[in-house]
Amino acid sequence: MDLVEPALEKQRRYAGLADEIDAVLAGEPDLTARMATVAAMLAASSPRLLWTGFYVVDPRRADELIVGPYQGPLGCLRIAFGRGVCGAAAASRKTQIVADVDAFPGHIACDSRARSELVVPVVDRQDRLIAVLDMDSAEPSAFDAVDARGAEEIVRRVFARA
Ligand code: SME
Repeated sequence: MDLVEPALEKQRRYAGLADEIDAVLAGEPDLTARMATVAAMLAASSPRLLWTGFYVVDPRRADELIVGPYQGPLGCLRIAFGRGVCGAAAASRKTQIVADVDAFPGHIACDSRARSELVVPVVDRQDRLIAVLDMDSAEPSAFDAVDARGAEEIVRRVFARA
């Protein structure tokens, strides 16, 4: 039976996850290690997640994303800014909460099982866009504002905090 997680319980789960990620990453400066750890710990945090990971801004082409560390089925290799949910988040620098990916114009289906998606822009300490965090679920409407705030706080603490 699919029990919807109460908001307060979900808030507490994200807060605890953020603290755990902080503890694991304490003193680790490497960006790849930080992204890989966030992807893995997010993936382990909920059975509703099909894919968790990063698309990184290509340093050679500032208008394109390259797949970075992730957990889940094969992800598309490159996404242009403005294309798909990830490209929309990168171009707008706004979090995208997609209840039904089939209703999102230009959604990119790396895996046909994905039904809903959350994508959060990732900025560094100088407020430069460096990546997006992408989370997919095989369930419709799997993400809400509590998920968005939780994921935004995790990427703030891991990538933007001085
Ligand atoms: N669905 C994303 C593409 C990345 S796969 O989900 C991992 C999009 O529309 O940008």
